[in-house]
Amino acid sequence: MQVQQVGVVGCGLMGSGIAQVCAQSGYQVVVREVNPDLLERGLARIDKFLTGGVEKGKLTADEKRQALARLRGATELGELKDCDIVIEAATENVDLKREIFTTLDRLCKPHALLASNTSSICIAEMAGATKRPSQVLGMHFFNPVPIMKLVEVVRALTTSDATLAAGLEFARSLGKTPIVAKDTPGFVVNLLLVPYLLNAVSALEMGIATKEDIDQGMVLGCGHPMGPLTLLDFVGIDTTYYIANILFDEFKDSRYAAPTLMKRMVLAGHHGRKTGRGFYDYTAK
Ligand code: CAA
Repeated sequence: MQVQQVGVVGCGLMGSGIAQVCAQSGYQVVVREVNPDLLERGLARIDKFLTGGVEKGKLTADEKRQALARLRGATELGELKDCDIVIEAATENVDLKREIFTTLDRLCKPHALLASNTSSICIAEMAGATKRPSQVLGMHFFNPVPIMKLVEVVRALTTSDATLAAGLEFARSLGKTPIVAKDTPGFVVNLLLVPYLLNAVSALEMGIATKEDIDQGMVLGCGHPMGPLTLLDFVGIDTTYYIANILFDEFKDSRYAAPTLMKRMVLAGHHGRKTGRGFYDYTAK
């Protein structure tokens, strides 16, 4: 399949990163947000990241200009009708995602592939909302998308060999390294990462060490780029809580049971960097 135009649904943290990487890889990109305000914020995030890249010498000002010229914002799903592949990166809500997939299926050309960046929702459920289930797959990127090299390419029960192969090829064309995962909650990375993060919260809850020492332990002891509590603030405590609950619902295994402290933090709105407060305080930054 020859991909020329890519659609991205959602211009939040993940969607904006995916749209940026696609535009930088030479594709014409249409990124859709639900309203002009959110769209503007997402496009500003892309601009800021690219500007930072120019300042760091990672790309030239001309490459930045070309990437932005390939990127178009939209507020209607109908604007994605000519895309060869659409990557959905909307809110993690299964009903919303099914609705988006049904609409995309109706709008897009018969050859188009429909992918979801979900981290935990069943791909087969989204495929079932379309009349092209063999052309639906998962393409799970990692935050920050322009920097993290991995894409989990997820094969649902309905995904065809050709769709999987096209997904792998597309991920490579973005300069990413794909791995193939089955359509089970958490795929590979979150299946392993989430219990580790939950254990870090439990360790804090039990008073085993301070938050700083728990983080320092994993950075200096295991060479992780960030400690687990810093990473939770980075990914979003609410997001991780949501994923943990999906894993727990599926496997009924205490490894995925969110600690009491985590639930309280979510309820209190301490979601991490995005709300200014998580395990650490970001209000001064
Ligand atoms: N444009 C281009 N490159 C940039 C850039 C920009 N605006 N900003 C930074 N970079 C580059 C840097 O130049 C650097 O590149 P080199 O290694 O070639 O020097 C690299 O990106 C790292 O940047 P920094 O040195 O500025 O930042 P850092 O060393 O503090 O790393 C980090 C930041 C990449 C976020 C690192 O801390 C990290 O890897 N953290 C872990 C992130 C992680 O685990 N993400 C996955 C979360 S799970 C998830 O996303 C899935 C889910 O479903 C929840």
